Amino acid sequence: MAITIRQAQISDIQAMQNANLNNLPENYQLKYYMYHILSWPEASYVATTTDGPEQFDENEDVQIKYVKDIKGDPAYVNHNEKIVGYALAKMEDDPDAEDKTPHGHVTSLSVMRTYRRQGIAEKLMRQALYALTETFQAEYVSLHVRKSNRAALHLYRDTLQFEVLSIEKSYYADGEDAYSMKKLLKLDELLPSSFQKAEAVDDLEQDLLDGIDDE
Ligand SMILES: CC(C)(COP(=O)(O)OP(=O)(O)OC[C@H]1O[C@@H](n2cnc3c(N)ncnc32)[C@H](O)[C@@H]1OP(=O)(O)O)[C@@H](O)C(=O)NCCC(=O)NCCS
Repeated sequence: MAITIRQAQISDIQAMQNANLNNLPENYQLKYYMYHILSWPEASYVATTTDGPEQFDENEDVQIKYVKDIKGDPAYVNHNEKIVGYALAKMEDDPDAEDKTPHGHVTSLSVMRTYRRQGIAEKLMRQALYALTETFQAEYVSLHVRKSNRAALHLYRDTLQFEVLSIEKSYYADGEDAYSMKKLLKLDELLPSSFQKAEAVDDLEQDLLDGIDDE
């Protein structure tokens, strides 16, 4: 199953909202997704797959490829492209905010259940953090997470090295507390080549120079 991570577009917002409604109690109107994408177009990302709708009948001698009827399925943004996760991010733009340091905020993150534990959320987050730093010069990024959300806490604290700033009592509408988290952003650490699980770069020029030194 191939997954693509790409920038979110206005035409994705319904499918993003669908992924949100399926997975989180904190929901937003479509205009809030639109506000993010129009204001900070580089900051939000979606994970998509094209594996879903094309099907083959294994019992047929001559294979006929057909496309499943996807009408009414809000996950699809094209006849064969389905959104399976997103990271919605922005720059802090509250004129009354005390801290005037340019910084980003992750508003929402979600991966559809059957696509979890494959590193999709980590990749979506890393793309968003890189863009906030590179494009908008964010010096740090903040977010809130439910105290009970083990999966998200593992991702933020252990995988992405966010630190807990404080506990915000009854932050959520149902009364649950939130951890307020923050990560300092350094461009060189966020380069895709610096990712924890990145493969070693194949540096042809250095290999050739090493060969000369050895002789
Ligand atoms: C939280 C969520 C986005 C994680 O998505 P995901 O694509 O499964 O995460 P990844 O595969 O990128 O995993 C990242 C890390 O978190 C860990 N992790 C993921 N799910 C976990 C779980 N249920 N329990 C413990 N650790 C978990 C992974 O093992 C991985 O750790 P590693 O770097 O040590 O290997 C997903 O579970 C989700 O959409 N949950 C519902 C919505 C939500 O809670 N959003 C966050 C709101 S703040």
